[in-house]
Amino acid sequence: MTSIASMTPVTSQAPVIKIEALRKSFGSHEVLKSIDFEVFSGEVVTIIGASGSGKSTLLRCINLLETPDSGHVWFHGQDLAAQHVDVNKLRSSIGMVFQGFNLFNNLNVLDNCTLAPTTLKKMNKPQAEEVAKKHLESVGLLDFAYAPVTSLSGGQKQRVAIARALCMEPELMLFDEPTSALDPEIVGEVLTVMRDLAAQGMTMVVVTHEMDFAKNVSDKVVFMDQGIIAEMDAPQKLFSHPQCDRTREFLSRYLEDTNIL
Ligand SMILES: Nc1ncnc2c1ncn2[C@@H]1O[C@H](COP(=O)(O)OP(=O)(O)O)[C@@H](O)[C@H]1O
Ligand SMILES: [Mg+2]
Repeated sequence: MTSIASMTPVTSQAPVIKIEALRKSFGSHEVLKSIDFEVFSGEVVTIIGASGSGKSTLLRCINLLETPDSGHVWFHGQDLAAQHVDVNKLRSSIGMVFQGFNLFNNLNVLDNCTLAPTTLKKMNKPQAEEVAKKHLESVGLLDFAYAPVTSLSGGQKQRVAIARALCMEPELMLFDEPTSALDPEIVGEVLTVMRDLAAQGMTMVVVTHEMDFAKNVSDKVVFMDQGIIAEMDAPQKLFSHPQCDRTREFLSRYLEDTNIL
């Protein structure tokens, strides 16, 4: 296993997110068993691992959709495990995109995008619409601003979900298997949007089974296995020289069809 210290980029910057000795159990099932890692500004970190290894729980602890049992999640030096954290303010700074889109089906595309900025950020409607249109354009969906969400394809819905998250002008974007619910032929359109976002310098933590994305877009890959980080490394190293048997087994299962290695 590569040590965490050796993964830290040579920079004087403080991390955007620093996770330290994070533990979470559901009943007697310990789902996260002391997790440590950092994410620096502009980094793209992908998290890979088998179903049930704790990837979603880890992401959900970062924006307090789950409360850690112990340990720390520091966001710009603020300990999110502390009692007085303003959850709404935090969630304004951390965008989240889920596998199942989580859009409001009773609203059109534009209203999905303006709801949080007008309610949580108290932005006025015309200003929120201007911001929303900018982000809808960036995901290629400006023409769909007034379309009902229910009329969109899965790939379009996920691009709206990304635009909606961007409307809050987050500092960090979390993606939990954003393409897993999509038909294979439309996965690419969502990955392209995510790739563009990464190229623009967005700090991102992405749980994914898209190994090509992990290999080519991320700065750091985290392999989770049964609630621990079994291995964490630069993608070129982790994919070509996995140090841990479990990583090797996992990758060989995923990659045998794709010749990515
Ligand atoms: N709210 C919950 N209550 C009970 N068990 C949960 C809950 N959320 C997740 N788990 C369990 O925690 C384990 C890890 O889940 P999860 O973080 O969703 O893994 P992954 O995203 O890697 O598939 C699984 O065994 C899952 O059943
Ligand atoms: Mg999951």
